[in-house]
Amino acid sequence: MSLKANHRLLPIIALAGLSLAGATFGMASEPANKVAGDDYAGTVSLSAVAQLGKKLFYDPSLSGNGQMSCATCHDPANHYAPGNGLAVQFGGPHLDQPGLRAVPSLAYKMSTPSFSVGAESAADEAAEAAPMTEASGVSLANTPAVVAGPLTAQAVVKADSNAPDLVPQGGMFWDGRVDSLEEQALQPMISPFEMANADAATVYAKLKKGYGKEISDLFGNNVLNDQDMAIAEVGFALARYQIEEPSFHPFSSKYDAFLRGKATLSDAEMRGLKLFDDPNKGNCASCHLDKMTGDGQMPNLTDFEFEALGAPRNPAIPANADGKYYDTGICGPLRNDTYSAQPQNCGLFKTPTLRNVATRQVFFHNGVYRSLEDVTRFYVKRDTNPDEIYPKDANGKVEKYNDLPAQYQANIDVIDAPLNRKLGDTPALNDAEIADVVAFLKTLTDGYDPAVDGTKAEK
Ligand code: HEC
Ligand code: HEC
Repeated sequence: MSLKANHRLLPIIALAGLSLAGATFGMASEPANKVAGDDYAGTVSLSAVAQLGKKLFYDPSLSGNGQMSCATCHDPANHYAPGNGLAVQFGGPHLDQPGLRAVPSLAYKMSTPSFSVGAESAADEAAEAAPMTEASGVSLANTPAVVAGPLTAQAVVKADSNAPDLVPQGGMFWDGRVDSLEEQALQPMISPFEMANADAATVYAKLKKGYGKEISDLFGNNVLNDQDMAIAEVGFALARYQIEEPSFHPFSSKYDAFLRGKATLSDAEMRGLKLFDDPNKGNCASCHLDKMTGDGQMPNLTDFEFEALGAPRNPAIPANADGKYYDTGICGPLRNDTYSAQPQNCGLFKTPTLRNVATRQVFFHNGVYRSLEDVTRFYVKRDTNPDEIYPKDANGKVEKYNDLPAQYQANIDVIDAPLNRKLGDTPALNDAEIADVVAFLKTLTDGYDPAVDGTKAEK
């Protein structure tokens, strides 16, 4: 069975394997760490499969260099994102090969729908059935006990909603190139600038050696003796770990507490939320959805759709030293399929969740920004004051949209507010308003405890 061709079958095969394994699956085990501010799950037991996934997640011997595990780049102490301020991380056999993109957090990936270019809104699709919720068999979006705060359905004010059939959405990675967490796992293991195993066969040999007994106990000898099946099950185990371990999706931010009626926002945070929502000001919520759904699911702070924002080129990425190199998102360099050959997809990247965004040190797919103020300023000044956003060439001409080849610049979103203003217009947010938006973004960090933090002075 080829991993690539049959990816949609993986969860089913994996589940079949699990039912064969019978009693092993779902048995109580050591309790996972309780997350600060987590008031819904109590103590959670990881299934045997998720426990295997946990070991794999932290095992550096699975890397070509023996020094790098998933947790090296996806650090649990930092909401599963890097703890350092590098635009791209270094991997490879000698840990000196630079990556091409900023490392996303692995938190809140479970509601990511499969990649599609279709009419259905990704948010709706995610609410119905996400690959991860399917695999887990339970919906993980916790239902709050007390519901207060804004409950109106998310206003969709995107100009492109007239042509939803053109909007790519979902999938894993900044370019959506794989559909599920299961499938995703092999990629970092064999990537030359990440864990850098020579090939899938090398990974398989290591798995057999280090985890042979566990794999055959859980999934049977047939799986252990089949390279593709064994790797698929390991992907499934890693996915189960990310699904079952509560710290991947604690929903314990101040904003969550606010939505549940258990916290009040400060004046600045509240002003920031209004600006974030206002279609004529930040309009951020049109892409970074921030309302609870009607059935009580907490918001993902993303609609999972792809957009070309035209972020400035980042000279700190070594690959960018080559003036002819461009990261065009769906069109490559890391994606290679029918979608990557379609010019209208070039320059588009997946809208990331803004949960825990204030704990990140670099922002956007290329890590070009280092503060939330600068990111927010980019949105409102990209077209009104491009000289403050982009560098100038030798003749003093502003190099607008300098990280995308000219033939794709028409894909850049100039329709959705606040990206719809023209040169010389007043920016949609002034500096004080930008500060308010940033104050709101800081309420999205997990680990807020209403009982403790709520009593601190608010201003
Ligand atoms: C050297 C650093 C590094 C290591 C090690 C690493 N990753 Fe990643 N991870 C990345 C980068 C960079 C991306 C984004 C790549 C892209 O978009 O093309 C990413 C993306 C992901 C994503 C998609 C997240 C999203 O927002 O769509 C998942 C899931 C993931 N990694 C899981 C893992 C797992 C599981 C392991 C261990 C088997 C692992 N990673 C090891 C750097 C790393
Ligand atoms: C048209 C959709 C859209 C709108 C409107 C929008 N965003 Fe985004 N946002 C995106 C996309 C797409 C990215 C990723 C772009 C990239 O990496 O090239 C992103 C990335 C970000 C990031 C970086 C996150 C990270 O992990 O690197 C922040 C912060 C952010 N947006 C904040 C905002 C704020 C604040 C507003 C309102 C002023 C806003 N966004 C409006 C689509 C949007």
